[in-house]
Amino acid sequence: MAREYGLFLEGKWTVPEGAKRFRSTNPANGEEVASFVAATADDVQRAIAAASRAFPAWRDTPPPKRGEILLAAARRFRERKEELGRLVTQEMGKVIAEGRGDVQESIDFVEYMAGEGRRLFGETVPSELRSKFCLTVRQPKGVVAAITPWNFPTAIPNWKIAAALITGNSVVFKPASSTAACGAEVVRTYEEAGVPPGVLNLVTGSGGVVGDVLTSDPRIRAVSFTGGVETGRDVYVRGAKALKMVHLELGGKNPMIVMDDADLTLALDGILFGAFGTAGQRCTATSRLIVHEKVHEAFVGMLVDRLGRFSVGDPLDPRTGMGPVASADQERKILDYIALGRKEAKLRLGGTKLTGGAYDRGFFLAPTIFETEHGTRISKEEIFGPVLSVIRVKSYEEAVRVANDVDYGLSSSIYTRDVDRAFRAIHDLEAGITYINAPTIGAEVQLPFGGVKNTGNGGREAGSAAIEEFTEIKTVFVDFSSKLQKAQIDDPAPA
Ligand code: SIN
Repeated sequence: MAREYGLFLEGKWTVPEGAKRFRSTNPANGEEVASFVAATADDVQRAIAAASRAFPAWRDTPPPKRGEILLAAARRFRERKEELGRLVTQEMGKVIAEGRGDVQESIDFVEYMAGEGRRLFGETVPSELRSKFCLTVRQPKGVVAAITPWNFPTAIPNWKIAAALITGNSVVFKPASSTAACGAEVVRTYEEAGVPPGVLNLVTGSGGVVGDVLTSDPRIRAVSFTGGVETGRDVYVRGAKALKMVHLELGGKNPMIVMDDADLTLALDGILFGAFGTAGQRCTATSRLIVHEKVHEAFVGMLVDRLGRFSVGDPLDPRTGMGPVASADQERKILDYIALGRKEAKLRLGGTKLTGGAYDRGFFLAPTIFETEHGTRISKEEIFGPVLSVIRVKSYEEAVRVANDVDYGLSSSIYTRDVDRAFRAIHDLEAGITYINAPTIGAEVQLPFGGVKNTGNGGREAGSAAIEEFTEIKTVFVDFSSKLQKAQIDDPAPA
């Protein structure tokens, strides 16, 4: 039986009168997973009003107390790990080990943020005047919006929600429509952990209705968005008009460089996971393999051989290497890129929709490899699917030039045994994240996540950066001299 969800407003699951509904379906077999309320602009405003009412009391709750509630949520996520991991797989299509991994990332981050309740550090800084004490404290922004994608349907919502809550903000959360059951279950977990009514609100529905209100309503002080570049640009423009802080995590075209001195067996495991894990639907997925000409033939041969034996199928079966792509829209877009690749590059493997038997009920694509010159559209545009462009280079310098010559800069990686070259790559690669001898995926919650160029607008989330994202800094001067002291004007003569 498919589940039915309402909106979560002011601590209650609510179905507004006359509400229209939409559904999410399992990309492996087309079965309905759940149905949701398509929120109207009025519903979103009710959510914002609820969050505004709840904000003062939550702001004034001591952060360690907020941390206790987050710790209870982390424990509840742990108890629900198997159930939620399966839901992630059913609603989004990633293989079950990764579905569990999505929830584990949630547990890790919520636990980490719970500890922040006893830190939230400010600075103490010397004054240029005598008997004056200077410090900074962190304060919440107010009501914030979290707008999240379908590819990490519990982890990315938690990156935003847990960080916003521990820092004292109240939240209106809009999950991706195709994975809204995962979003709703994230909210239910916080409800069970004791988050007070109104502090976290869920609105489901289209970007055109829900997103538009969240990005323009003046009561929302910050919007944290993860998704595609075009929508991100729109969110940024709308938010800028209302002078909101807008945090964007957008696309990637992440390169893995394999040098002639690399451990090719290690690099092979890396590229299989980096490019075809989550069916290539991670912002950090490896979508360009840049290989030194001396090992190009050998390495591509090893890759084609291993991928030829890769199993694509039921993502709930633990033996499956790759599940379906997430939706009909995803499949169409990826197949369009494959058709383009057939014209502008050499197809080495795959390039087809898988059909027959159970494949006919879902969105299954063969892992695909193109050999291409740098500069083709498939080598520069984000595809967000199991399609890898392999580019041959003559030197380290050329590899870096190719790696950097795209609009994005999220993740990057190099396989080499030369320690000097590894450190040069850390300096040279234009990306927010660089891995040495590991693939481009593998974020850990205690480290900042984000990128340069069109990947975002300069911010980072997770790690210590999560606190920056959701707080204002207040600068405090305490003058205990009992006289008026003027900075830049008074000469603090010896006492
Ligand atoms: C992504 O690459 O899309 C997110 C990374 C993560 O959550 O591990």
